[in-house]
Amino acid sequence: MKMAGKTVLITGSTDGVGRYVAAKLAAAGANVLIHGRDEARAKTLADEIRRDGHGEPTFYQADLSSLAGAHKLAETVLAKHKRLDLFVSNAGIGSTSPGSTRQISADGHELRFAVNYLSGFLLARLLLPLLKASAPSRIVNVASLGQHPLDFDDVMLTKGYTGTRAYAQSKLAQIMFTIDLAQELSGSGVTVNALHPATYMNTTMVREGGITPISTVEQGGDAILHLAAGEDMTGKTGLFFNGMQPSKANPQAYDGVARQRLLTLSLQLTGLSVA
Ligand SMILES: NC(=O)c1ccc[n+]([C@@H]2O[C@H](COP(=O)([O-])OP(=O)(O)OC[C@H]3O[C@@H](n4cnc5c(N)ncnc54)[C@H](OP(=O)(O)O)[C@@H]3O)[C@@H](O)[C@H]2O)c1
Repeated sequence: MKMAGKTVLITGSTDGVGRYVAAKLAAAGANVLIHGRDEARAKTLADEIRRDGHGEPTFYQADLSSLAGAHKLAETVLAKHKRLDLFVSNAGIGSTSPGSTRQISADGHELRFAVNYLSGFLLARLLLPLLKASAPSRIVNVASLGQHPLDFDDVMLTKGYTGTRAYAQSKLAQIMFTIDLAQELSGSGVTVNALHPATYMNTTMVREGGITPISTVEQGGDAILHLAAGEDMTGKTGLFFNGMQPSKANPQAYDGVARQRLLTLSLQLTGLSVA
């Protein structure tokens, strides 16, 4: 990886696979912007990066269960940094943690949709001017093989809620956004791809779900790093990977009408408009 002089933001890098990716990017010379909610965990990572002589990372604390949290993070990054070469949208909550019952975000949206998808959508859109100014640059959306089609009559899952379905629809929404944004950014020098990093990695999300891990953080992290920095990914955009392999997402991802409905809804929920 050639990351010297590059500035990278990884949401959810205080724990799990995001933490691994942040440490590896720092070791490759990147100026790493750590993000999460937990200051103590962020400090442990920052201390480790400094101790290893891998630069001076910055921590930005923001709770992405509110749109205000995403705005605050984007505004801080835009104000403090002259470039952004890579944005890894990785922060997320699983299907059972916190709790397996339906919960809502600060803005009244179904919580998994809000944290796993809508905040990443908003962050990417708010950071686009800096990513475009830093082109060639990349966006990586950390999604999943767990995907469920969105029911546009009940995206907030007021009926038939399960944590698994909520998680899976939020992950498919990330992939639908990836395909749309890649088309919109064609020719801009900003590429955007999504992936399933690995199945049941040994992370907090998986352990809290009572699941026995079957993959390592290194496996999933290396798949994220491939999309983030792999030379073979230069110019490639709008793709979904299963680990290191190009793959197909749920058919709804390739339904242009469904993607347009999701885009319209997302713009409306976040109060944005496309320039
Ligand atoms: N683990 C797997 O097997 C697996 C498989 C497929 C996809 N994925 C995806 O990989 C990504 C990372 O998952 P992981 O397994 O590494 O999980 P993890 O160890 O639980 O880490 C989740 C990260 O997200 C942050 N986060 C959670 N809620 C947040 C919120 N409201 N605001 C801001 N940050 C928040 C956490 O930070 P703080 O706690 O410090 O706030 C933490 O850094 C997720 O998008 C997940 O869906 C994981």
